[in-house]
Amino acid sequence: MNNNPQLNKHGELQHLLTTEGLPSSILLNILDTAESFVGVTERDIKKVPLLRGKSIFNLFFEPSTRTRTTFEIAAKRLSADVVNLNIAASSQSKGETLLDTVDNLSAMHADMFIVRHSQSGAAHLIARHVRPEIHVINAGDGRHAHPTQALLDMFTIRHYKRDFNNLRVAIVGDILHSRVARSQIHALTTLGVPEVRVIAPKTLLPNKVERLGVHVYHDMEQGLKDVDVLLMLRLQNERMLGSSLPSSEEYFKYYGLTQEKLSLARQDAIVLHPGPMNRGIEIDSAVADGKQSVILPQVTFGIAVRMAVMSILTGN
Ligand code: CP
Repeated sequence: MNNNPQLNKHGELQHLLTTEGLPSSILLNILDTAESFVGVTERDIKKVPLLRGKSIFNLFFEPSTRTRTTFEIAAKRLSADVVNLNIAASSQSKGETLLDTVDNLSAMHADMFIVRHSQSGAAHLIARHVRPEIHVINAGDGRHAHPTQALLDMFTIRHYKRDFNNLRVAIVGDILHSRVARSQIHALTTLGVPEVRVIAPKTLLPNKVERLGVHVYHDMEQGLKDVDVLLMLRLQNERMLGSSLPSSEEYFKYYGLTQEKLSLARQDAIVLHPGPMNRGIEIDSAVADGKQSVILPQVTFGIAVRMAVMSILTGN
């Protein structure tokens, strides 16, 4: 018997809601399965029949470019039928509740829901509500979790660095409001990265963040020294209640990643960013488009990683 709501009674993945509490065996299985799908995404005919006849519903209550599109591409490459619910034109605008919407889509024989929502816990709520044969993937909920983003980041790190167990990784920026940072920290520590650093001003760090097993830095010069991997984060202005920062110019001066600051890291360090980027605020264009940036490969790997998650959830 396990208490993890994303695992079934056999300890297999039933839903993907968070990276927190998932064993390394499950994370590595997703990365290894994604490895096999990279080949599919590079073929002329980029399709396999693993999810033929399955209906997958994209429920995005918040804007998205990368996640929604790569989930759609991934589902189509697995031969599933994909429905992108247009939330603005749906009966949500007439006051229908989230769970009533889900019940109605379930009555249309949905096999999987991919959910992005501004409320932390929305995907968990749906996962607890649906019939056991329906799977739920959290595509980002409030400040809480974005597990497939963290998994594609882990895939990208392993692709360039081969191994997790001799790396120094720094997560830089708005940790406080970031669901991506939380999912990255859980994944990195579970996969055995020996040193995970967070670099941010005090106002953008959660209370007692070191309890997650990270080393805290407020200074880029100290924090970036000898780092192998830099995970940059977006300033999440839409989730800031008051003013957590004096100004974006000030933020760029102290925490924006420039070529000069990047030179403090190891020479072969790689730079990741989940997107969307604020150029000139958390990252300089020279770095975002430079030779150490792996930001666009991250997006491409996201397709294979999301194919892997969907195929594992459905047992294919
Ligand atoms: N990384 C990420 O979640 O990007 P989108 O908001 O474009 O999906």
